[in-house]
Amino acid sequence: MSERTIALVTGANKGIGYEIAAGLGALGWSVGVGARSDEHRQAAVEKLRAAGADAFGVPLDVTDDASVAAATELIEERAGRLDVLVNNAGITGGMPQTPTTVDPATMLAAVETNVIGVIRVTNAMLPLLRRSASPRIVNMSSTVGSLTRQTTPGAETGPISAAYAPSKTFLNAVTVQYAKELRDTNILINAGCPGFCATDLNGFRGVRTPEQGAAIAIRLATLPDDGPTGGFFDDAGPVPW
Ligand SMILES: NC(=O)c1ccc[n+]([C@@H]2O[C@H](COP(=O)([O-])OP(=O)(O)OC[C@H]3O[C@@H](n4cnc5c(N)ncnc54)[C@H](OP(=O)(O)O)[C@@H]3O)[C@@H](O)[C@H]2O)c1
Repeated sequence: MSERTIALVTGANKGIGYEIAAGLGALGWSVGVGARSDEHRQAAVEKLRAAGADAFGVPLDVTDDASVAAATELIEERAGRLDVLVNNAGITGGMPQTPTTVDPATMLAAVETNVIGVIRVTNAMLPLLRRSASPRIVNMSSTVGSLTRQTTPGAETGPISAAYAPSKTFLNAVTVQYAKELRDTNILINAGCPGFCATDLNGFRGVRTPEQGAAIAIRLATLPDDGPTGGFFDDAGPVPW
């Protein structure tokens, strides 16, 4: 088995996921670049390697059972275990998406990628994570999924969103349930919000850089063994549910 810490980042070909992979690579870790496009994955791996990272490509569509099974096999063969899983891949489903007009297909797509995709990948990778001395799972969520924020007058909560924001609320709830089930293991699982970053997801309207957005994921990926589990954090600290 490899001496290096082994990480997998989903949706790592661009945006915040790419910067998470770059940040973990800069720690000297071996980083699997999970991405569904062969071309974009290969380009990201080459760029990361050129920057000195030990990056490798992992073909991965989080909505596809066969793809996730093949990704698990690839990591098993390459490393024999997984230390850190960052569930970063996500979609909005397209905006606008008001509750009174939303297409059910938009709801299904957002939940399929942002929630069920996380569950699919996490459960497939769990046997490999259980072989790690300090397994960490990071779910990239969003403060738009905070019901407290959404109902606090004056809080910054993004546009009205029938699918995306509730999918992150759902993801937060699922993260808590994982933490409950895994409480007596050495696995720490937390949700993180990157802040409003300029990426394809929002037409590059975000005010933070993807690199800044990656910082919370890197922090949660490198938690000490007595670190929190079942929490929701951004750079400023715990985020209210
Ligand atoms: N940007 C923000 O302000 C912000 C704020 C809060 C939370 N977040 C969260 O941060 C995460 C990263 O977002 P981002 O802003 O970096 O967005 P992005 O630039 O649009 O990147 C999203 C990534 O997810 C991948 N992806 C989407 N569906 C996938 C699937 N079925 N299988 C595998 N990969 C898939 C995309 O791959 P393709 O290139 O193939 O589409 C891409 O690599 C998301 O979970 C998002 O909800 C972002």
